[in-house]
Amino acid sequence: MQHLIDICDLSVAEIDRLIEKSNDIIKHRENYSEKCKGKKLAALFFEPSTRTRLSFEAAMLELGGSVIGFSEANSSSAAKGESVSDTIRTVGCYADIIAMRHPKEGAPLVASMKSSVPIINAGDGGHNHPTQTLADLLTIKREKGRLNDLTVGFCGDLKFGRTVHSLITALSRQNNIRLILISPQELKIPEYMKQEVIERFGMPYEETDSLEKAIPNLDVLYMTRVQRERFFKEADYIRLKDSYILNLSKLAHAKADLSILHPLPRVNEISVEVDDDPRACYFKQVLNGKYIRMALILKLLGVE
Ligand code: NCD
Repeated sequence: MQHLIDICDLSVAEIDRLIEKSNDIIKHRENYSEKCKGKKLAALFFEPSTRTRLSFEAAMLELGGSVIGFSEANSSSAAKGESVSDTIRTVGCYADIIAMRHPKEGAPLVASMKSSVPIINAGDGGHNHPTQTLADLLTIKREKGRLNDLTVGFCGDLKFGRTVHSLITALSRQNNIRLILISPQELKIPEYMKQEVIERFGMPYEETDSLEKAIPNLDVLYMTRVQRERFFKEADYIRLKDSYILNLSKLAHAKADLSILHPLPRVNEISVEVDDDPRACYFKQVLNGKYIRMALILKLLGVE
């Protein structure tokens, strides 16, 4: 049985096949509408979510399956003190596959050790978010036609942003990716990411606090939200929340074929005036997220 806890649980070849499968689903939706008939997905969200939870649910419904779950820890027995392991053993009696989001780093890994059905990590604290990465990779592949030979800028909260950590990890297995890491001093990429991923795989990278200076060189710009819920002090959040705002005047210096991604939700970091620019890909990215989750569910359930 295969779980998806970390993006490296999938080989590069497996990710390529998921991308191909998603492209086929996009072209031939009707062929997939009954593939998961009789199967159930449980969405266990111990932390808030709009896109990730609903896209898992929509993905399973579009495959002809059904969904159960909860969207708040305090509406589950976690509020009574039940352990993650016991919750998972229980839900495994009701569902064929589980997508789980948890504020504690490592909780989905613990869950996978006790589970009788495949577990998908839908985000664990500031750690990993592999299915967002699949959505990001599908978007980059569809927009740029390739996953190598790219200069990718990551901007905003690189410290707590789990989507950033997972995507950089995935890109470290591609050829010729250059990183530009744009953040205030306090929200720089964690040291473990630098040592264990970026430097270990020899990715050329630069750190800067200037989006203006970085933008002309980028093929892909990955914007992120400053994550209020992960700060210890509200005052630090207030000071840093508007560090980077992408607007049309900054975009004037970017390449004509830049692709702007954002895992969403956005707060202020991308002005709404950017939404109509052809370089804005973040709403396409949302849709791609549903398709690649369909491909992933098929794979983990072993449905051809
Ligand atoms: C991200 C997350 O939850 O990590 N959102 C998402 O899943 N699309 C990013 C964020 O919350 O800022």
